[in-house]
Amino acid sequence: MKKNRSRLEAAGGFFGITLSVNGVERAFRVRNSEFLLDALRRYGYKSVKKGCDTGDCGSCTVIVDGKPSLACLIPAFSVHGSAVTTVEGLGTMRAPHPLQTAFVEAGAVQCGFCVPGMILSAKALLDEVPDPSEAEIKKYLDGNLCRCTGYVKQVRAVKAAAKKKRGGMEA
Ligand code: FES
Ligand code: FES
Repeated sequence: MKKNRSRLEAAGGFFGITLSVNGVERAFRVRNSEFLLDALRRYGYKSVKKGCDTGDCGSCTVIVDGKPSLACLIPAFSVHGSAVTTVEGLGTMRAPHPLQTAFVEAGAVQCGFCVPGMILSAKALLDEVPDPSEAEIKKYLDGNLCRCTGYVKQVRAVKAAAKKKRGGMEA
């Protein structure tokens, strides 16, 4: 979607914005003080988790124009014309994304609260670096905190998904 901020006008404290969410063009009406996290949840994208709400935990991570981004820190009006990806756009129960399969198979999911954000950070990494080193995986997932597990299984899951995406046997 091409950005066209010139058409963005506030009326009564609200902006009407258009954006692509998971490949579908959507129109949102957002308050001028609203953050993307709250707007996405209000429009039904409940995979985007509200953890700290201060940019510290990574649970609200979404992909905006190809980059992993903290939705709790992004004013909603600023994504007018952008492409946003949430976990709802990644896979389905019948056809999960390789990262979703890998997280389950590696035992990297306990309560699951951190998982959507972590998977989107990992997706952004694999889109950029198809064969990441362990250090690169750890660096990319550094901002995604998990209260339940250690981080070993998530790193294993990302390695396995990377291998699968490249067409190799899963580790
Ligand atoms: S809710 Fe956004 S970083 Fe924690
Ligand atoms: S699985 Fe519970 S916070 Fe990560």
